[in-house]
Amino acid sequence: MKPELSIAFSQVTEGAALAGYKWLGRGDKNSADKSAVEAMRYLLNNTSIDGKIVIGEGEIDDAPMLYIGEELGLGGSAVDIAVDPIEGTRMTAMGQSNAIAVLAAGEKGSFLEAPDMYMEKLVVGPKAKGCIDLHLPLQENLHNVAKALNKELEELVVVTLAKPRHETVIREMQQQGIRVYAFPDGDVAASILTCMPDSDIDLMYCVGGAPEGIVTAAVMKALDGDMHGRLLPRHQVKEQSDDNIRHGNIEIKRCIEMGVEPNQVLALNDMVKSDNVIFSATGITKGDLLDGVYRDGDLITTETLLIQGKNRTIRKIKSTHDIKHLDASLAELVC
Ligand code: FBP
Repeated sequence: MKPELSIAFSQVTEGAALAGYKWLGRGDKNSADKSAVEAMRYLLNNTSIDGKIVIGEGEIDDAPMLYIGEELGLGGSAVDIAVDPIEGTRMTAMGQSNAIAVLAAGEKGSFLEAPDMYMEKLVVGPKAKGCIDLHLPLQENLHNVAKALNKELEELVVVTLAKPRHETVIREMQQQGIRVYAFPDGDVAASILTCMPDSDIDLMYCVGGAPEGIVTAAVMKALDGDMHGRLLPRHQVKEQSDDNIRHGNIEIKRCIEMGVEPNQVLALNDMVKSDNVIFSATGITKGDLLDGVYRDGDLITTETLLIQGKNRTIRKIKSTHDIKHLDASLAELVC
């Protein structure tokens, strides 16, 4: 994939973050998401790629989402795209920290094609690469990672999502003296922190969204971290209501149609095959990874994390956008 595409992709997440920012703290997560989706679609359609969404938010019937199989771009390099226009829709709506707009792109055929469903995820940075295995209980993984990092179990720092389904696992880890940081939402940013030099996080474990999982796998491939994932139907994650069982069965059927097995452990290479990936994330609200959007009159500042796998480069880009000079279609979504 051409390295010059990285700037174009950073502009795509910048646009999505600006569009999401319009709805910051307004209590309307659907409008925030819709606005970011429209900005991403518009900007990707103006990029010189022959792009395909391989995993995004929902299927074709769920429009106006960026749907799985959607083709985008002006023509050019053939690329697989995994997106989450707003990773943290609730945080955006409620003005809470850690909301970002994210996109990962790789060579055509390099990303796993999977439905938008739940995924169990175990993520570590480069120093613990090769030491994780989702076939084994979490407990054993924690021991193996601590050993690889030359740490006592009590010195380990784990990040997860503060969801009711994780309460038991959080309590068990804390009882062993492990430090657990439980973020309300946003497992992509949490996972990336395992690879950041200035972060104390050793491991990310959670059950969250599969699109976020593939985006994370792309970053792990780019930064030489490691990840295992397992697609889970909704009724195995949430309560066994009729609706969740019906929904879960549709997800299983879609998995079979797409040639991927639910409940099977996926290694990093099963999710993303090549390190020739570009990842871009722009902060919407201030978080552990990025600053949020800041507006002062007509000037809006954004911060973007741009990672290129091929040459393992991590860039942070501060951009100032003058609202009077934004592309007219984008300005409509932002102002
Ligand atoms: P969205 O804002 O895209 O909904 O994602 C936020 C998030 O916390 C993800 O990071 C996580 O993977 C997923 O939601 C978990 O889903 P749920 O909210 O259903 O538990």
